[in-house]
Amino acid sequence: MNVELPLLPYDYDAMEPFIDQNTVSIHYNKHHKNYVDNANKILANLPEFNNFSLEELLKNINLIPLDKRISLKNNLGGHYNHLLFWYGLKQGTIIDGKIKDMIEYNFGSVNNFKEQFECSALSCFGSGWTWLIKTDNNELKISSTSNQDNPIMGKSIVEIYGYPIFGIDLWEHSYYLKYQNRRIDYIKSFWYIINWDEANNRLNN
Ligand SMILES: [Fe+2]
Repeated sequence: MNVELPLLPYDYDAMEPFIDQNTVSIHYNKHHKNYVDNANKILANLPEFNNFSLEELLKNINLIPLDKRISLKNNLGGHYNHLLFWYGLKQGTIIDGKIKDMIEYNFGSVNNFKEQFECSALSCFGSGWTWLIKTDNNELKISSTSNQDNPIMGKSIVEIYGYPIFGIDLWEHSYYLKYQNRRIDYIKSFWYIINWDEANNRLNN
């Protein structure tokens, strides 16, 4: 199995002024590319997993030999998380359809959901992510993960597991140039750039 850095579906300045052009460029060309390169180096020594898809491999990360498991989890997880992040961003979409209905059903209102998501993202200590996930019971929940873990990796890795609908990158590399220590401002700007169409697509998966 081999993974590739996909083309960004927009220009580096497409998320201005919420995420600046320089941050997107470095984040994509340096950080994401690094996860891809490192994951491929590890995967080259795991030919027995050639037939696994990216998601299958992440769901079964505990099958990976112990000496390669953590580094693969970090780098392949980093690749997957950043795929979700880039494709989960777009300016100008509106919350509508099934995602809106399910958020209102599960959290009471869109505003309640935003408050809980912000609270979870703000309290995530160190580097990690906060996700909206769909559980096996078809419920929406908020799940925060450390480092490059993802809720798809299952209960042996994360407390609240499920299928990620979208997530916010809380590593400082995703916001520090513009926001410095003001993580809350970065989190609040996220609501202006969520790709709600993509969220609806993933909800139907
Ligand atoms: Fe990142």
